[in-house]
Amino acid sequence: MNGQSYRGAIVFIGAGRLATGLSRALHANGIAVSALASRSEDRAQALSRQIPGSVVRDAQAAAGMADLVFIAVPDDAIASVAAQVRWRAGQFVVHCSGATDIAVLSPALEAGAAIGGFHPLQTFTDPDVALATLPGCTVAIEAEPELFSILERIAAAIGCRPFALPPGARARYHATGSYGAQFINALLLEASAVWESFGKDRETAVRALLPLLRGTIAAIEQGGLANGLAGPVSRGDTGTVRRQIEGIAQVGEGHVALFRELTRLTLPLAIERGKLSAAQIDALQALLEDKS
Ligand SMILES: NC(=O)c1ccc[n+]([C@@H]2O[C@H](COP(=O)([O-])OP(=O)(O)OC[C@H]3O[C@@H](n4cnc5c(N)ncnc54)[C@H](OP(=O)(O)O)[C@@H]3O)[C@@H](O)[C@H]2O)c1
Repeated sequence: MNGQSYRGAIVFIGAGRLATGLSRALHANGIAVSALASRSEDRAQALSRQIPGSVVRDAQAAAGMADLVFIAVPDDAIASVAAQVRWRAGQFVVHCSGATDIAVLSPALEAGAAIGGFHPLQTFTDPDVALATLPGCTVAIEAEPELFSILERIAAAIGCRPFALPPGARARYHATGSYGAQFINALLLEASAVWESFGKDRETAVRALLPLLRGTIAAIEQGGLANGLAGPVSRGDTGTVRRQIEGIAQVGEGHVALFRELTRLTLPLAIERGKLSAAQIDALQALLEDKS
């Protein structure tokens, strides 16, 4: 597939962070974006200036000229956009929300359009960062075969990895994104609280831990979750894990409960890695079951 292979008229309704990153990626890969609509014309104009060949229209006029519409408004506004626009048979109407059911687009379906979901599993904030980080991302696509095939080829054209998301799985699929995104922030916040207990601020803690996080990501990319595992659990160093738990306990009860639970979740990976003896596994399990 190359960027030329979808030649239908693509429009975006919504000109925010997702629409900016995605429409710029389409344009950069030779897929034309014909029109942009947003609630405020200024926002659509600002994006249109970055997408040569695109025009700004209201949502109805943009949809009217489209073969494929990306609805890129906040999740809670998708239903009202879908209900307000008069769709026509044969169009493709897609939203970009991970967690929202595609049934929210039923007004388009009832008008004879095909509906679907196109969700890049990436965060879109700064547009230049979004463009740089989009290649290699997974895009979850939910659609009937004809639309699926178009969206699959579009995802591939912008360097992403498309996959078919089965109906009924959107909310739990989207929830898993938290493990690669907001929970990392939360874990670093937790680590920062421990650093603060010995007099170092959050910024210092995060700066110290980020290179470790990058190394962990590289190891996982290289070896997978089990072979990419490092640290005392992976080595069966029960004494070190005990000292860590005792150390975290000095910070507070909630902190040690979380640390113990995360350590417990790590143990199956260490076992899967296949380097621990039965005695080491028993010792770690006994330590982690010990609530005292
Ligand atoms: N940002 C991400 O990281 C990301 C990642 C994957 C998927 N998504 C999905 O992409 C979609 C858009 O998210 P976003 O982060 O790009 O949102 P956003 O930055 O807040 O932008 C939303 C856009 O929608 C417009 N809008 C809001 N209500 C509207 C309405 N009723 N009618 C027409 N336009 C309306 C806004 O218009 P004005 O500014 O002109 O008022 C703005 O242009 C969501 O479904 C989200 O789940 C986002």
